[in-house]
Amino acid sequence: MSFRTIEWRDNKVIMIDQTRLPAEEVYNEYTDFQGVAEAIRGMVVRGAPAIGIAAAMGVALGAREIIADGFDTFYRQLENVCDVLGRTRPTAVNLFWGLERMKRVALQHKELDLHSIRELLKAEAISIEAEDLAICKEIGRHGAALVKEGASILTHCNAGGLATAGYGTALGVIRGAHEAGKNIRVFADETRPWLQGARLTAWELMKDSIPVTLISDNMAGWLMKSGQIDFCVVGADRIAANGDTANKIGTYSVAVLAKENRIPFYVAAPISTLDLKLSNGDQIPIEERAPEEVTKVQGVSIAPEGVKVRNPAFDVTPARYITGIITEKGVVRGDYEKELRALVGL
Ligand code: MRU
Repeated sequence: MSFRTIEWRDNKVIMIDQTRLPAEEVYNEYTDFQGVAEAIRGMVVRGAPAIGIAAAMGVALGAREIIADGFDTFYRQLENVCDVLGRTRPTAVNLFWGLERMKRVALQHKELDLHSIRELLKAEAISIEAEDLAICKEIGRHGAALVKEGASILTHCNAGGLATAGYGTALGVIRGAHEAGKNIRVFADETRPWLQGARLTAWELMKDSIPVTLISDNMAGWLMKSGQIDFCVVGADRIAANGDTANKIGTYSVAVLAKENRIPFYVAAPISTLDLKLSNGDQIPIEERAPEEVTKVQGVSIAPEGVKVRNPAFDVTPARYITGIITEKGVVRGDYEKELRALVGL
């Protein structure tokens, strides 16, 4: 991969600034957890697994900033750091998964001196990133087996290297099929309002010479109906126990259209995106973002001043529209309730 989404280097967090792609490839440096929190909120880094990694690295930075004379005061301040990071974006469960994992590391080593705990937190954040890369490659391997030679694949939003440590979940499946020599091509939904498909998916697939064609969101249905799409794959921000899946707004429409046209519709996600505490997708919090994302494109106004706007950033696709969920441990289908619990050993 010719870019690095997020990296811990010399006690700084380095992130490619996704708000500036594809025009400029700029890397921002963060030295404090407040900066990382702002980067998550402002979508410098986005995509569920990448948000989880960023949050964990934010905690590691925060731990370095804490001044305390013992574990209890240190841990109370670490919880504050986690609270600030946890208030950035509500939908992707990987954020909270990353924060919990970091808090657990601190608690498990409370008998150590604070310097050692800070070092362990740093090591944990770095290993979350490394694990994510390996997990995405496994997702890609399992998913590639489902893709037929010569398939035209539709994807929505960006569930690629930019949304993970570097290989992608939905784009991991696409990369896996491409690397297996399957001669695939990709249709990327532009993904209004933030244009993750146009700005990010098209950019990273072109960088890797994977054939990609950009379409506006409202073209997907017609392409499906006229036999130009064979397979759909998207990422996920949170998957409830019954398989209902929150992902970028517009995913639900793609899934319904895929079912109507008898096209397989897969979700690709790591196990860290499962939220089995939630029995169904109605319980998933949906982030509502600023109206300007809808009324403006790249800062240029496209709507009358003062118009009322809705901007839910995610929707929930009911499990009945999902052909299968591709994880690092294999593909789950059918009785999601049972199969997802079995996958995590419950
Ligand atoms: O608002 P975003 O860009 O963070 O939304 C991203 C998505 O919806 C992705 O599809 C999802 O996080 C999966 S990323 C592997």
